Amino acid sequence: AAPLPWTGRKVLITAGPTVEPIDAVRFVSNYSSGKMGYALAEAALSRGAEVTLVSGPVSLPAPMGATVVPVKTARDMLAACEEAFDSADVFIASAAVADFRPAETAKEKLKKGTEGQEGLEHVRFVENPDILATMGTRKRPGQIVVGFAAETSDIERYGRQKLASKHADMIVANQVGEGKGFGTDDNQALLITESGSEALPLMAKTRLADAILDKIEQI
Ligand code: C5P
Repeated sequence: AAPLPWTGRKVLITAGPTVEPIDAVRFVSNYSSGKMGYALAEAALSRGAEVTLVSGPVSLPAPMGATVVPVKTARDMLAACEEAFDSADVFIASAAVADFRPAETAKEKLKKGTEGQEGLEHVRFVENPDILATMGTRKRPGQIVVGFAAETSDIERYGRQKLASKHADMIVANQVGEGKGFGTDDNQALLITESGSEALPLMAKTRLADAILDKIEQI
């Protein structure tokens, strides 16, 4: 049989949410299901690629043949990506990384009704590192970096801004809200590259994964 088209290629993918601990028992996170990243991993594997999947907590089975690196926080995810990025040919950031994390994680469970405290107002949030932008800056010639942009409006404009600001070669921009995007099986995307934008119809994330890999081949 002929070798598969991506045989010998190394693909690094981030997927799922990150979770950011508040105290010993609580965290902040988001609704990301990981479906898009896992679909990308499956699609790359079926083209013969070697896949490393850096995944936040999701309830999806590990794609057969992938190296799965389970992580919790954005900083863990960054560390795992820094480890694998240099040997990767393609980096795809599909994770919904929490933009903010509690500045400190309380060792004990925080107590309600604590004297002098209303709610959790003393929990301060700080910004997480931007994994995609960090990898985009580190990119060497020949490496391809792909990111996502979930937007509620002006998806082309914001997506194109992210292409530049994160030094990406492609941004998969999609409309979120009204049952689109997070947690769903379908996604409607605009593939934004230096050379133009391609609007795709609403399709299953498994098919979108193939369309994204096709576009990477063109780049
Ligand atoms: O800036 P924004 O969060 O909209 O960018 C989305 C893209 O950046 C996605 O590809 C996401 O995986 C990536 N990202 C990241 N690290 C962050 C925030 C976003 O890798 N801290």
